[in-house]
Parts: sequence; C-alpha cells; structure tokens
Amino acid sequence: MAAEQAFDGYRLTDEQQAVREAVREVCAAKVAPRAAEADETGEFPKASFDALRAADFHAPHIPVEYGGAGADALATAIVIEEVARACAASSLIPAVNKLGTMPLILAGSAELRRKYLTQVAAGDAMFSYCLSEPEAGSDAAAMTTRAVREGDDWVLNGVKRWITNAGVSEFYTVFAVTDPTARSRGISAFVVEKSDPGVSFGAPEKKLGIKGSPTREVYLDGVRIPADRMIGAEGTGFATAMQTLDHTRVTIAAQAVGIAQGALDYAKGYVQERRQFGKPVSDFQGIQFMLADMGMKLEAARQLTYAAAGRSERGDADLTYFGAAAKCFASDAAMEITTDAVQLLGGYGYTRDYPVERMMRDAKITQIYEGTNQVQRIVMARQLLKG
Ligand code: CAA
Repeated sequence: MAAEQAFDGYRLTDEQQAVREAVREVCAAKVAPRAAEADETGEFPKASFDALRAADFHAPHIPVEYGGAGADALATAIVIEEVARACAASSLIPAVNKLGTMPLILAGSAELRRKYLTQVAAGDAMFSYCLSEPEAGSDAAAMTTRAVREGDDWVLNGVKRWITNAGVSEFYTVFAVTDPTARSRGISAFVVEKSDPGVSFGAPEKKLGIKGSPTREVYLDGVRIPADRMIGAEGTGFATAMQTLDHTRVTIAAQAVGIAQGALDYAKGYVQERRQFGKPVSDFQGIQFMLADMGMKLEAARQLTYAAAGRSERGDADLTYFGAAAKCFASDAAMEITTDAVQLLGGYGYTRDYPVERMMRDAKITQIYEGTNQVQRIVMARQLLKG
C-alpha cells in the first residue's frame, strides 16, 4: 500500500510521484505568480483556489465515494507541501479543508458525511475548524462556547478565535460545551453553516505571515441548529478534536516542509548567480556548509513527515506521537531554513523584492498553530512516558 512504502522510507509510488509533478505544474503556472500579491494585499487568493479546484487539489483527501480525489494521507501531504512551496497561504486551502472535515470523516453520521463532504469535494464550499477561543488556546478543554439542547435543536453561544479561512468557508466544525461539569468529556462537536442565523465574523487579524489566508473570530449568537448536526455522540467532541489534530498535524508538517523547500530552492539559485570577490558566492565553503545544513534538515523533516503520513493513513496507535513529532520537527526546521535563506541573500533577502522574507514570516506560524511546539512536546512526552 502506498503509505506503507513511505513509512518504510523507500521511494514514492509512481502515483504519488505523478501527484507531486501535477501539483507542481499547477502551482508554477497559477499559484506561485500570485503569492507575493496575496501577501501584499492580504486578500484570499481566489485565483489559486480556482486553479487548485480545477485540478482537484483543493480537498484531495475526500474519499471517492463523496466525489473526492481519494488521495491517501501521504499524497494529501504531498499536495499541501507542493502548494506551500509556492504559496503558504494557498496551501491552507487543502490543509484546512482536511482539518475542518476530519471530524466528519472520523465520527460523523452517514447523512452528515454525504451532505457536507460532497460539497467540499465539488469545490462548492470550504470547511473550517473552530476549537480555540480567546481564553482557551493551548488549554483547549477550557472552552466556554456553550451548546444547550432545546427540543429538537441545539442553541450555540460563544466566540471562537484564530479561525483559519473564516468568512470564506461555508461550513464550520464547532466544538462547544454541552455539559459544563465534565470538562473535556462535556464537549461536543457540531456542523455550523455560515448562513445559520446568528453566525458572524470578526475583522481579519493583522498577521505576520500567511496573509492571504483570512484568520477571523467566529461569533455564535443564539445559533439554532438541528440535533442531527452533532458530529458523533454527545460528550465525544474533545476526543474527536484531538484525533483530528493527530492526522492534521501531519499536514502542517508538510506545509512547513514545502515552505522550507521553496526557500532552499530560491537561495540555491541565488548563491550561484550572486558574485562577490570575483566569483559566485556558492564557491565559498561558508555558504556551501549553510546549504548542506539546510538540505539535511529539510530531508530529515520530510522523511519524518512522510513516516507520520503513513501512520495517519493506517490509523496506527503511535500516530499521536508521530503527528506531534513531525509537526514540531518540520516547523522548527522550516524556521531555521527560511531564516538561513534570508541570510544567504544578505540585504536583498531582507526586502520584499525577494520571496524569502515572506517564506520566513510564513514559516513562523507552523510553530504555533494546530498546537504550539511546546504543546507538541507535552504530547510527545506523555506518549513516551505511558509507553
Ligand atoms: N486522541 C484521542 N483522545 C485524546 C487524545 C487523542 N490524541 N488526546 C487526548 N485525548 C482524550 C484523553 O484520552 C482524555 O480522555 P478521557 O478524559 O476520557 O481520559 C481527554 O481527551 C482529555 O485529555 P487530556 O487530559 O490529555 O487533556 P488536556 O486538557 O491535558 O489537554 C492538550 C491536552 C494536548 C494540551 C490539548 O489540549 C491540546 O492539544 N492543546 C492544543 C490545542 C490545539 O492544538 N489547538 C489548535 C487549534 S486548531 C488550529 O490551529 C487550526 C488552524 O487554524 C490551522
């Protein structure tokens, strides 16, 4: 099976290699040329979305039975990696579509899956994930958004913060407290639609990077939804949220690998063109050693990410550990590699005339979202100690 080959660390299957080449082609033609513009304007890269959608790369993980491309976890990671290599903000289209829909795939009823996954697969709607709140970031179980049962409905009230693609997504997985006495076992998951009365959005956050991907608050003000919009059983929402992140931390690792690859590729070309002291600066061993370290860290990050993707595909018991390890390692590596890429370009690297400073800013978020790298270390340590 495809993912098992990657886990063994051999080579990609022909199919996975073909996916990489196809995404790279779309991104070179339609996504990369607009990456700087998305960063400058802070506007959602609709043209990138259209290009990814036309090639069926906007939500590749959705199973074939719902009209999706049915890509396995590794092929999905490769799509995200390749889009991120061109434009990190655009890579949040396939990444967050996976994040938002994973609770449905893991725990949703057949009706919910059919109703929503088909629309995402068709590219008619995107799906966001609403876990964090102003006072519940790393401590996700401290959320206060409340869902109260009223007859055949649930009524939701609260504020969700840092919601990627909020406003452009039609659908939202919302985690809310259904039993305030039970902490994490009193949290349930729901599908909320943008058009549900009582749903509204805050102003876009002014961020350091991934500027083309809107990050906004989601306000739930007496949002009344039918009871069959609950994902899984009452009280299982927190476990579903954590299981989802086990899978999707792999996709953030892939995003980090892609951003780092983009920076290394650019810096590699630059140092061979740039001449100082009468020769290309790539002739200097100090530069060569930097490039070698960047390439080494990048490949280690990629291998760990692909190994984690194999676990995600198979649903292995050690996915929690591998998802956290891959996300943490790859994002730390991406931060180092993009910072070194800026260094290799010298003063030019520090300007917006060249893409590496954007990549360095974009890399930073991968150390923060889907759980800070400090949280990843908590997750890894707990797994190690219980083993
Ligand atoms: N799979 C299944 N169940 C899990 C689980 C997992 N990986 N991790 C925890 N659980 C279960 C536990 O078994 C436990 O269940 P029981 O009560 O039945 O025993 C329950 O959940 C509570 O677990 P913990 O006691 O470990 O919970 P905690 O309060 O100590 O928190 C934490 C653990 C790891 C710190 C967690 O809160 C966490 O991951 N925090 C970070 C949140 C995060 O990643 N937020 C990112 C938001 S999404 C985002 O960034 C998206 C974006 O925009 C791109």
